[in-house]
Amino acid sequence: MTPAAPPFAHPLLRVPTPDAWVEAACALPDVLLIDHANCEKKAASTALALMFAYAEDLELTDKMSRLAREELRHYEQVAKLIRKLEVAPLRLAPGRYAERMRRLVAKAEPLREVDLMICGAFIEARSCERFAALAQAIGAPLKDLFEGLHNAESRHYRIYLDLARRAAKRAGVSLEIRVDAFAALEADLITQPDPVFRFHSGPPEAG
Ligand SMILES: [Fe+2]
Ligand SMILES: [Fe+2]
Repeated sequence: MTPAAPPFAHPLLRVPTPDAWVEAACALPDVLLIDHANCEKKAASTALALMFAYAEDLELTDKMSRLAREELRHYEQVAKLIRKLEVAPLRLAPGRYAERMRRLVAKAEPLREVDLMICGAFIEARSCERFAALAQAIGAPLKDLFEGLHNAESRHYRIYLDLARRAAKRAGVSLEIRVDAFAALEADLITQPDPVFRFHSGPPEAG
């Protein structure tokens, strides 16, 4: 009898990455790396955009400045591996994940700030969970890269979650209600078949 998989318990995420996604990632390492490089660039540019959006908030701008620099260093690590492995450059359109999460963000303040921080927390938390899943399944040298990035993303999701908690308190809204809304959508995006393989995509469509 094979032992039962341990139950999935995470402070934010409701579902683990499906095995079918991990299999697709191992079969498409070039697309995985190129999209991962794009994700690191996007993480840096999101942090910079938040520095402009909340310029008067010195705690937030300081944290986002450090985050942007760290994400760009991650980008450089991925880009170095892409060159070393002679992966052919490819322009990839982003997948559905971040765009669909951003659609749930409130248009008006003060809820918008709460939502933007929660959204950042989920993206970082999923990246962290995927690095762990990939590190178990994929061989060197990608395994070493993903293992190295895992702890950073775990730290990043806590930074965003702390900022979300602070913004919710200031706005007098329930953090839990908004986290629940994003958690439900995120779980759908991770479990529903996805026509496009990307770093944050759902399992591949059958056939
Ligand atoms: Fe990163
Ligand atoms: Fe990150």
